[in-house]
Amino acid sequence: MNAQTSNLQGQGISLSFGGIQVLKGLDLEFRAGEITGLIGPNGAGKTSLFNCLTGAYRPQKGSITYAGAPLDGLPPAARAKRGVVRSFQTVALCPDLTVVENVMIGLSRNYHAGWLNAFLPLPKGRRELAEMRSAAEGALAELGLANVGDLFPEQLPPGMLRLVEIARAIVGKPSVLLLDEPAAGLNNSETRDLTRTLREIASPDLVMVVVEHDMDLVMSICDRIYVLNFGEFVTCGRPDEVRQDPDVIRIYLGSEDD
Ligand SMILES: Nc1ncnc2c1ncn2[C@@H]1O[C@H](COP(=O)(O)OP(=O)(O)OP(=O)(O)O)[C@@H](O)[C@H]1O
Ligand SMILES: [Mg+2]
Repeated sequence: MNAQTSNLQGQGISLSFGGIQVLKGLDLEFRAGEITGLIGPNGAGKTSLFNCLTGAYRPQKGSITYAGAPLDGLPPAARAKRGVVRSFQTVALCPDLTVVENVMIGLSRNYHAGWLNAFLPLPKGRRELAEMRSAAEGALAELGLANVGDLFPEQLPPGMLRLVEIARAIVGKPSVLLLDEPAAGLNNSETRDLTRTLREIASPDLVMVVVEHDMDLVMSICDRIYVLNFGEFVTCGRPDEVRQDPDVIRIYLGSEDD
């Protein structure tokens, strides 16, 4: 697909809960080949925007397109089939599955035999299962988790669980990767590894959007940054532009979060 056209675009995205407007007519273009930062204070609407992009929330107004095709009205599973995937601010792994099995869930759009078929002793199912496991192990290794695949989530520390979530998001080779606070709960060395990994994952066809409060991470990996405050974009620009923007300094960087 032409990277030029495989952008994620939004026009006039508006979302309200019980009369409170959480997103106020947002226009955006998250570009393929770039890492886009989405920052803003607590409650600004970052996660709500991700929820609109993935189909978990249905905005009252506006439209969202990927590669020129509208996503409006499509449920999350249909958007995932088009490669729109996300990680969650609060880690959401299945406690009864092993780590590698959790990551394999991220491949469900890529394989057609399905879970039931995969567990039956049919050659196609067995082959798919083996391929899925090997891809999941590869994604875990990419995140430095080569030896934990057979453990259960409860056996891992919180930082590692977040990396497992990211492995599940990247294993299916997404076209749009939305990461909601990927560094939350990671220690300094895990954050450094994550920063390197995100740079490695970036590719000309991938739209990657990172919501993060860790400014060092955002400023070092993002090509462009959108700043959201009370459901409105304050500005959008390169890290050096955003860093110096007086409104951003006042609204966000000077806030008590820092
Ligand atoms: N399902 C919901 N029902 C009611 N209000 C909601 C819902 N989801 C989000 N909100 C409200 O929308 C606003 C934006 O919340 P959101 O979680 O999107 O912020 P955020 O920028 O992700 O914040 P944080 O940095 O703390 O994660 C908040 O006022 C929140 O209470
Ligand atoms: Mg949030």
